[in-house]
Amino acid sequence: MAQIVAFFNQKGGTAKTTSTLNVAAALAERGQRVLAIDVDPQASLTMALGVDIANLDLSVYDLLVDDDVALPEIILPTRIRGLSIAPSHPDLAAAELELLNVLERERRLGEKVIQDVLGGFDFVLIDAPPALNILSINILVASDDLVVPIEPHPLSLMVLRRLFETISKVRRLNPRLRVVGFLPTKVHHSSRLAIDMLETLRVEFPEVPMLPSIPLSVKSAESIAEHTSILEYMPRSSLSTAYRGVADALLTNHASEAAHV
Ligand SMILES: Nc1ncnc2c1ncn2[C@@H]1O[C@H](COP(=O)(O)OP(=O)(O)OP(=O)(O)O)[C@@H](O)[C@H]1O
Ligand SMILES: [Mg+2]
Repeated sequence: MAQIVAFFNQKGGTAKTTSTLNVAAALAERGQRVLAIDVDPQASLTMALGVDIANLDLSVYDLLVDDDVALPEIILPTRIRGLSIAPSHPDLAAAELELLNVLERERRLGEKVIQDVLGGFDFVLIDAPPALNILSINILVASDDLVVPIEPHPLSLMVLRRLFETISKVRRLNPRLRVVGFLPTKVHHSSRLAIDMLETLRVEFPEVPMLPSIPLSVKSAESIAEHTSILEYMPRSSLSTAYRGVADALLTNHASEAAHV
């Protein structure tokens, strides 16, 4: 069974998309079959992987609003071996309104992912939008695990309480949901802000593991501009090493999960 992992934080710009792409690439490099699902109307992950959204026939929008569209129909290959994408489209912004009168609308994504795809992939990684709306709730209901990318910034901690309140409410709909860890991103190691934030996270959320920190680096955006992962663009960089570490943590977690089944 595929492990479904969402990169989730309602705060914008915490490197959710960058991390989804690079962890997906790192898992693919380890021989895993990976599907990335872009559930953000900004479609950043889709575009980063070189998909031309102007010429898309079907996207996650159709998957969510159309009963007759199944996940395999929207999946596209990417130029990263072992990585496929279920693309987003700006129309997805309208899904919120269109789902308003749909029964069990918070289960749309979960139902389609579980029914249609799990056999063909080892990991399904979901890129979440910076919001707590019906799309986000669909992601929380569909996922086994959450990775919470968090940037060293005084405002980052303030949104976390709300996030954890939402998670505990969603557990009624999805008891499997676990937070596999905080992922500190854009970390400048000598910065006081980063050191203080990591310490505060450890004190306030002692039960949440800390994944390897992702260093601050302009190379991150450069690799996206090249429509590839940092692993391909600069395989020996500290960024690549850190993302491989995150992938290994997910693999270990998946293996221990399987052992419990
Ligand atoms: N390690 C890094 N070092 C420096 N900049 C980074 C790093 N990772 C990501 N960035 C930059 O930070 C910005 C936000 O990254 P990204 O789009 O991945 O965040 P996001 O959480 O997906 O944003 P949104 O909430 O809008 O979806 C981008 O400009 C990206 O290039
Ligand atoms: Mg994003």
